[in-house]
Amino acid sequence: MIRHLLSGADLDAATATRILDTAAEMATVAGREVKKLPALRGRTVVNLFYEDSTRTRISFEAAAKRLSADVINFSAKGSSVAKGESLKDTALTLQAMGADAVVVRHPASGAAHRLAEWVDGSVVNAGDGTHEHPTQALLDAYTMRSRLGRLAGLSVAVVGDVLHSRVARSNVLLLSTLGAKVTLVGPPTLIPVDIAAALAPDTTVCYDLDAVLPTSDVVMMLRVQRERMTDSYFPSAREYARRYGLDGPRMRRLPEHAIVMHPGPMNRGMEITPEVADSPRSTIVEQVANGVSVRMAVLYLLLGGNNA
Ligand code: NCD
Repeated sequence: MIRHLLSGADLDAATATRILDTAAEMATVAGREVKKLPALRGRTVVNLFYEDSTRTRISFEAAAKRLSADVINFSAKGSSVAKGESLKDTALTLQAMGADAVVVRHPASGAAHRLAEWVDGSVVNAGDGTHEHPTQALLDAYTMRSRLGRLAGLSVAVVGDVLHSRVARSNVLLLSTLGAKVTLVGPPTLIPVDIAAALAPDTTVCYDLDAVLPTSDVVMMLRVQRERMTDSYFPSAREYARRYGLDGPRMRRLPEHAIVMHPGPMNRGMEITPEVADSPRSTIVEQVANGVSVRMAVLYLLLGGNNA
């Protein structure tokens, strides 16, 4: 088993499949009255969050607790980071406390990789800048597999603000490893020119959402990440929604079996309308539930549960 999970590229098909299969076993725990396994008793998991997060932070915390680990939640606000302490000094502090795993979210791309050089335990990247978010890709793959029964051969459209999306990058890497075919869709200003070639050569790019809908098994909508935008990438929110938003009429052009995904948080009315987000095709709430099982599997396998 790998020691750290920093990128979708860390996972070959066998390792990724093992995580997804383990997550399916972990999911059975969620259905029990007592949602706990003793697997990581006595181990310490630190959640180190330098950026706002709802789903991901809670999900990692629930996952570690369901495996009986001791959990320390650290958020940059209210800590010595606010006094200017560097990531390295924070890492050494965690190290001294004997963290077995550090789950890190940071606004700088590459922060998780640096941290992995400084600590002895396992590092899990929970989102570094606009770079990667591999556990989100795993939970997305898990959701696709459980709804559609397979990953190989699926056509997946990833739509919207690809430029700022760590979710998109990790998904392209993992999905191509698992044999799905990804099409990146969005305005040219929000799709980096060389992204397909740089990540996975079989990925295609299309600027016309309506053209890809009839042949997509999965449509993954991305949040328009205004907080990361330093420039004006499209004329107006209305214009964006008109060309790249998923609304009811567009959803009805998808094949009958197709699903609609979104990692959250959503800009309802911009990239997705409430009608679509709350429809039976939407897996948005399932993705959150699956996230806990997938993160349980990741922590369990990285920390050598069952001598993995
Ligand atoms: C994503 C993130 O933070 O990278 N959300 C998440 O983890 N569920 C996507 C986003 O912020 O748009």
